[in-house]
Amino acid sequence: METYTSLIEDTRDFVKKELENDASGHDWWHIFRVCNTAKTIAQSESADLTVVELAALLHDIGDWKFHNGDESVGPAKASKWLVENDVPDAIICAVCDIIKTLSFKGANVATPMSTLEGKVVQDADRLDAIGAMGIARAFAYGGHHNRLIYHPDQPPELHDSFEKYKSNKGHSINHFYEKLLLLKDRMNTTTGKAMAEERHQFMEQYLNQFFKEWDGH
Ligand code: ADP
Ligand code: NI
Repeated sequence: METYTSLIEDTRDFVKKELENDASGHDWWHIFRVCNTAKTIAQSESADLTVVELAALLHDIGDWKFHNGDESVGPAKASKWLVENDVPDAIICAVCDIIKTLSFKGANVATPMSTLEGKVVQDADRLDAIGAMGIARAFAYGGHHNRLIYHPDQPPELHDSFEKYKSNKGHSINHFYEKLLLLKDRMNTTTGKAMAEERHQFMEQYLNQFFKEWDGH
């Protein structure tokens, strides 16, 4: 069987360069963590490691949040890179299909993944949005976008369209209720579900402590 060790190394360098200056919680180290988590899940779920690793590496290179809401930038960039590197069509299709479907698009918007590899990468990406890492990223994102940490008069909203989710400018604590606490029930694989459980509990504990301190206790 053909291996793709050097393609994966080159892809890693390409992505590192592309995301070099991102300080919003979407930096290279997010990709690094998602890639490692995706490999752990892929091994225990027997998914194709090449597709999983390529999709994990390329999944955020053209994020809609940084391209005026344009969702087609990422898959186009990824596909261009893979075509330039003579990757077989079947792998390109599998990888780009995963990248297109990956993102969370609102509490009441379904984003079903059709392949095992897609389920694995989506689980890994979601795991990095929860737990200790997720808390850090939520506040990093909020700071980057000038959002308040919390405002008691602004309750969370459960968005039923990607448009509404996308245009939301609420405080960062709302994001826990609009996305982060919902992720554990959206995990695809058995391995991912088990990993999400611990991270979810940690966030609940964090929020309890947050509100206790908010109230002066
Ligand atoms: P995904 O990888 O599911 O597409 P995103 O790209 O939407 O995740 O978000 C990147 C990181 O920024 C995640 O950790 C996410 O939870 C966080 N984030 C996104 N939107 C907000 C927001 N409105 N407030 C706080 N954090 C956010
Ligand atoms: Ni991501």
